[in-house]
Amino acid sequence: MEKINVGIIGFGTVGSGTVQILLEHKEMIANRVGSEIVVKRIADLDLETDRGLPISKTVLTKDAMEIIHDPEIHIVVELMGGTVKAKEYILAALKRGKHVVTANKALLAEHGQEIYQSAEENGASLGFEASVGGGIPIIRSLKEGLSANRIKTMIGILNGTSNYILTRMTQDSLPYEKAVEEAIALGYAEDPPTLDVDGTDAAHKLAVLISIAFGAPASFNTIFREGIDRLTPDDIVFAGEFGYAVKLLAIARDLGDMVEARVHPAMVPLDHIMANVNGAYNAIYLEGDFAGPHLYYGLGAGKRPTGSAVVSDIICLARQIRLGVKNLIPPLAHARSTAGTLRIRPVDELLSSYYFRFSAVDRPGVLSKVSGVLGKHDISIYSVIQKGRGKDRAVPIVMLTHEARERSVIQALRELDQLDILTDRTVTIRVEEGKERHDS
Ligand code: HSE
Repeated sequence: MEKINVGIIGFGTVGSGTVQILLEHKEMIANRVGSEIVVKRIADLDLETDRGLPISKTVLTKDAMEIIHDPEIHIVVELMGGTVKAKEYILAALKRGKHVVTANKALLAEHGQEIYQSAEENGASLGFEASVGGGIPIIRSLKEGLSANRIKTMIGILNGTSNYILTRMTQDSLPYEKAVEEAIALGYAEDPPTLDVDGTDAAHKLAVLISIAFGAPASFNTIFREGIDRLTPDDIVFAGEFGYAVKLLAIARDLGDMVEARVHPAMVPLDHIMANVNGAYNAIYLEGDFAGPHLYYGLGAGKRPTGSAVVSDIICLARQIRLGVKNLIPPLAHARSTAGTLRIRPVDELLSSYYFRFSAVDRPGVLSKVSGVLGKHDISIYSVIQKGRGKDRAVPIVMLTHEARERSVIQALRELDQLDILTDRTVTIRVEEGKERHDS
């Protein structure tokens, strides 16, 4: 049987998962591909740690360039992470006409255009199923299964760490810091975990998804992102009293001449499909104009699910190599990409309902001052909760608004934050209804 050689750069969690699958399912994969897949070289700076895999020492190297320069290696798998060295290796491999598989969402979100272009110019294929949603085959679904559709809406829980943290805060009233510690200990978090909790990781993944859905790379910095790090268990309890769960959502919509793309904590009705995605699970809700709504749900991180996605790309590329086909599906699944980058609508144009938690001094007239400023900016209040007395401390005043323009909200909060009746910055959560709910 013909052999297809793979070189892996990065022998950490995902690298070990990938090698484990290729070894454990060797025969099954060979039957599915029609060729044997051989792990010819693995590069990592740490050659000492025992990964518990039957790999000969001669396969290991500290020098990734040995893989790039090896003429017998057909597929280079980049699993080292980071955006500098990883980019250098991927571009060098593509330049030599090698096919590349990567799980590197940060690299694709921030430098995707250069990498996609290089793959096309060099007639090489690029697989990046593992960059979003761990074991969920979301990239392949967008590129192939839904290729007959215009994607109208995408709503994702794309970061397992923050979903785990919010779930622990919701179900067990765990303080934020304790829940973060747990998520790190369980191995879900990025290094550093800031990227998970500040929305960056989810925004990287959203950038990858919208590039495929809409056929052009997105400029990462134009995607609005806000994290979960200012939320408290109280916010989650208040949201529950209003009938909502709090989730870190990645949201994209086709607006015709531009695209809406944003990542932030959002309140979703308790009976909304996303409200019931808990723990480290990821979910992606998609609407295609012909296929209608779809939901993908599964483990978004970890050695085995992410390894599964990497190996699915290796299998796909190995099948192409066997048939002598190159770049069967272009990186963004559009033979003619839309010129330039996607136009992302500025977030201040967003129309949404809002949750505000004001930290206010407890004295007569405070509520009317706050509502006066909101009214001046055309923000109408739907419901208010104020509990407890705060003789010597601030009390939370919590509000849910009718739909308001983000620009007005920014101006109103700026004005309110300057008043001496508020003792801390206001916490804001946007409401994502899925359907219209409030009376107007
Ligand atoms: N840190 C990521 C998450 C996993 O928590 O979802 C890898 O993408």
